[in-house]
Amino acid sequence: KEFIKITFMSYFTYSNNFLKSEGVEIQKIAESRSTPFYCYSKKAITENYNNFKNSFKNMDVKICFSLKSNSNLSILNILSNLGAGADVVSEGELRKALRANIEANNIVFSGVGKTEEEISFAIKNHCLQINVESISELNRVNTIAGKIGNKQKVALRINPNVDPNTHGKITTGKIENKFGISVNDAFNIFKNSSEYKNIILDGIAFHIGSNINEIKPFEDSFQTTSTLLQNLSDINIPIETIDVGGGVGIENINFSYSNYSNLISKYFDTSQKQIIIEPGRSISANTGILVSKILYIKKTEERKFIIIDAGMNDWMRAALYDAQHEIVPIEKKQSKDSVETMVVGPICETTDQFISSKEYFDVKEGEYLAILNTGAYGSSMSSNYNVRPLLEEVMIDGNSYYKIRSRQKFEDLINNEIVID
Ligand code: LLP
Repeated sequence: KEFIKITFMSYFTYSNNFLKSEGVEIQKIAESRSTPFYCYSKKAITENYNNFKNSFKNMDVKICFSLKSNSNLSILNILSNLGAGADVVSEGELRKALRANIEANNIVFSGVGKTEEEISFAIKNHCLQINVESISELNRVNTIAGKIGNKQKVALRINPNVDPNTHGKITTGKIENKFGISVNDAFNIFKNSSEYKNIILDGIAFHIGSNINEIKPFEDSFQTTSTLLQNLSDINIPIETIDVGGGVGIENINFSYSNYSNLISKYFDTSQKQIIIEPGRSISANTGILVSKILYIKKTEERKFIIIDAGMNDWMRAALYDAQHEIVPIEKKQSKDSVETMVVGPICETTDQFISSKEYFDVKEGEYLAILNTGAYGSSMSSNYNVRPLLEEVMIDGNSYYKIRSRQKFEDLINNEIVID
């Protein structure tokens, strides 16, 4: 397949042989704190959001940033100040979005398994829309809304049964996936929408997968949705909102944001309908790096291992999806070592490995490496596996930087356990 190579701006580049973002050398940050840590650029977040938003200039869209890609409060504050809404999938995410002053009427609540408590919390807080994924959930939302007495706006998430041609583990829009309601079932539910007295059932949502680099699967899902819209309009069921989900990839994508927005206006009457978009990765991925120190270099007969202090608990994408994110030294190296090399973490699992290369930079113990494009699904997916604390995060802003999350303390990890002697 042919790709238009979209060069996403790199916000972390070498200057005088040192990796730098905005006006700050990463080496300076690394030397003044303990590794590993996540490091973000405020400029990157701002520009990514604005670029995305500006591609939808002639349309009334709500851009609801998907918190699952990154839910750091400082990052949310930046996005909130730029006017972003939020796509949340748990009470925790909803609380964080509200805490970042994202208005409730710009927050969409998605997810296939919301609890009663979560649904109540969303309704009490006047969330813009709950995206419902089964008939049982629809009944539950209707009942809870009746008890609370707020008429909640609801969308049905449909499963358009298209293959997004991405990694199988992040495919969501095929009929064998757990997500959404089939188009036929959705039609029948909408047909009976007057039965649901306590809610306003007037939206359609879908999300076919993540890290999608072709336009065709998006178009297929728009086509399926617009046919459903037509069928509903034929029986006088009005649909006010179309939520097209997220999923726009970041590498080798064969379309531009304006191709994508044009396609939305081609299939949907954007002057009559509210369009919601839920981008995650496309806003946050290239805004952050994970900085780690080389603990040991170990040579075996087979290969060389570079053992770093970040592990699969800090950065899961390699272990979970075999994602090979580029890893670069913070101090630029001129020479490469032709030995087969693997960059690995300290965790006691073979899958705790990040990248393998036949030719890797000639680096030394004690030096720093950066795993690139870790602003999405990095920190937000990290865990305490091996009783390792969650990492510190810092934000670069112009010529300075500041802490946006403290490293978790060992006491916090240990003290909430109840010991029965
Ligand atoms: N909306 C819904 C309903 C979603 O399920 C997702 C992602 C998004 C929006 C945002 O998608 P994005 O624009 O970021 O592709 N942990 C995986 C990605 C899982 C995505 C799950 N849903 C990874 O690291 O690749």
